[in-house]
Amino acid sequence: MKKAKSLLVLSDMHHPYSHPDTVPFLKAVKAKYKPDTVVCIGDEADFHDASFHDSDPDLDSAGVELEKAIKGLKPIYKLFPKVTVIESNHGSMVLRKALVGKIPRKAIKSYNDVLDAPKGWKWVFDTIIQTPLGPVYFCHGKSGAAGRLASQYGMSCVQGHFHERAQIMYISTPEKLMFDAHTGCLANDKSLALGYNKINPKRPIISILVIINGIPHIVPMVLNSNGRWIKSL
Ligand SMILES: [Fe+2]
Repeated sequence: MKKAKSLLVLSDMHHPYSHPDTVPFLKAVKAKYKPDTVVCIGDEADFHDASFHDSDPDLDSAGVELEKAIKGLKPIYKLFPKVTVIESNHGSMVLRKALVGKIPRKAIKSYNDVLDAPKGWKWVFDTIIQTPLGPVYFCHGKSGAAGRLASQYGMSCVQGHFHERAQIMYISTPEKLMFDAHTGCLANDKSLALGYNKINPKRPIISILVIINGIPHIVPMVLNSNGRWIKSL
């Protein structure tokens, strides 16, 4: 099996409530790291109004929000036409709602149809990708505790979901070296849709993860005092 030498992990974008500098930041990341493999760790769209929670009355309806999410994702499709996307609590909202409504999967549109995504975007619950230093397991978010998932699974792991966690912990055993990583996110903390974050004293970290020849690196989007990217990696 081909091993990923430069693997990029797109973190919780929450379109249309993504950070306003997401596209230029990802363009710069692509130019610098030239990824051969791209994983979107989930929450590619927010589906705020369609969620199980109360939605903010000052935000768009579910239909308008979806149109805006697609508009926000189009440049990402162009930048990265082949992506493995991990199913997630926000990204799978339409499917979750349909199942609650007893609608069988056969009657539900595919993720690609809902989000106008290219064929190269493939949704999976989780995945394992080989790197030169061993396999890496990807899921949306099973444990926020640094090191826990990799210890349980016995292999390197990458998760998103926990927006305030951008961290890498190494674990060694007599047999091997593993890492356990959390990606941070690309969501716009100022959006009303992310209002639930405000009661968390830990602020979100705007960042992505790259795995170069098996070694993980967090790449933060460094922000100025106005919350905009400083345009330097
Ligand atoms: Fe998220």
